[in-house]
Amino acid sequence: MQVKSICCIGAGYVGGPTMAVIAQKCPHIKVTVVDVNASRIAAWNDENLDNLPVFEPGLDNIVGEARGRNLFFSTDVDQAIDEADMIFISVNTPTKTYGKGKGMAADLKYIELCARQIASVSKTNKIVVEKSTLPVRTASAIKNILDHTGNGVEFQILSNPEFLAEGTAVEDLFAPDRVLIGGDTSDKGQEAIQALVDVYANWVPKERILTTNVWSSELSKLTANAFLAQRVSSINSLSALCEKTGADVNEVAKAIGLDSRIGSKFLKSSVGFGGSCFQKDILNLVYIAKTYGLNEVADYWEQVIIMNDYQKNRFSNNIVSTLYNTVSGKKITFLGWAFKKDTNDTRESAAIQVADNLLNEQAQIEVYDPKVIEERMYADLDYLNTRTEDENRSLLKVKNDPYEACKDSHAIAVLTEWDEFKTYDWQRIYDNMLKPAFVFDGRGILDTKALEKIGFVCYSIGKG
Ligand SMILES: NC(=O)c1ccc[n+]([C@@H]2O[C@H](COP(=O)([O-])OP(=O)(O)OC[C@H]3O[C@@H](n4cnc5c(N)ncnc54)[C@H](O)[C@@H]3O)[C@@H](O)[C@H]2O)c1
Repeated sequence: MQVKSICCIGAGYVGGPTMAVIAQKCPHIKVTVVDVNASRIAAWNDENLDNLPVFEPGLDNIVGEARGRNLFFSTDVDQAIDEADMIFISVNTPTKTYGKGKGMAADLKYIELCARQIASVSKTNKIVVEKSTLPVRTASAIKNILDHTGNGVEFQILSNPEFLAEGTAVEDLFAPDRVLIGGDTSDKGQEAIQALVDVYANWVPKERILTTNVWSSELSKLTANAFLAQRVSSINSLSALCEKTGADVNEVAKAIGLDSRIGSKFLKSSVGFGGSCFQKDILNLVYIAKTYGLNEVADYWEQVIIMNDYQKNRFSNNIVSTLYNTVSGKKITFLGWAFKKDTNDTRESAAIQVADNLLNEQAQIEVYDPKVIEERMYADLDYLNTRTEDENRSLLKVKNDPYEACKDSHAIAVLTEWDEFKTYDWQRIYDNMLKPAFVFDGRGILDTKALEKIGFVCYSIGKG
């Protein structure tokens, strides 16, 4: 079967970039991305490509090329489902905030809504692709809903988890380490797998397209995120020991990373990992292990999250203790709010927890981030419910100019590794700060030796 029309439900950080790349690489396929969020769809359709809702280097050019040709963004979910041979589900799967599994299990209500909508609208056979990250065995629930429509339409369910990293999404989609496709072992399942393989084969070398059974594919995505986050927590745990012993975590990371059995990637110590996926996917893995009675397995993976929380709190505690045990009324400047550089995504960003801790100590925070808008920062803080919305707005201010944000500050905290922070005129920043002028580099990106020469008092994660 040759796919001619694709619908993707969910125009977020995964659905938008993934479908833009499929449309660009497969001009013979019509790709329609739909979402219930009308303002998000309007932003995807904005004439000015600077206003796309997702910032990713290179994405604007791809959307500019394919949009209106074979890439469309719409709020008409029913029509797009009806027209498509293949439907990707790319909606959010956050951690449950209520009921059974609260705080751990994945909330699958958006997935279920999609399945029900596909079931009620479809008049022809469809291949339904799980692009969202889902607990292992979700495909059977989706199949169950789809098979009970009673209108004779046949559905094949595939699992095709997305491995892109925000900030490098376009690169990752152009040249993925692998594409994983899980499907049913029946003939029809294999046909569906082949149809999706043929889509990716337009630009991905065949040997990088891996096919498995559905359960292996679903579980591989959770496992990949758990392993990546575990590496960050492992090196972060050692950053604390480096600070006590005089070792340098960057030197340790380099020394162990050169061991080909370990490898050098994901060994950068920091104020803690963020992003929408690592925490929620590990908690989901922990929950799944617990439901199967595998408590030791659950505890093992939960420690990755505990270590990450420890690292964020350790960073803010260190700021307080270094500033003579009080930050009350003191101005602290945050450079960065996004969870990593080259994205405007702030979900689970370490900056949020660090800010919340310092606001509890009555600090006055001013933030500069090159891509994150003010409303997003306040929404992140309000979501924690620690204080009133008015208090958040009066204690934390957002500046569009980094020098303005650093002026009259007691301390600067680097929360995101944006490249531009390295090239600032740090002498000018120093001259306009209160003395002693402190810098807390939560990302290890600044040249602390040069800063110390200027007169700054520096703390860099993992340096004794
Ligand atoms: N963000 C990442 O880096 C990343 C990477 C790999 C996998 N994933 C997974 O991909 C999935 C999507 O993540 P995301 O970051 O793109 O989420 P997102 O929140 O940015 O986007 C999800 C979109 O789905 C829409 N939506 C929800 N229910 C809908 C419905 N019933 N009909 C139409 N639209 C609906 C929402 O309005 C939202 O715009 C998640 O399962 C996530 O775990 C994310």
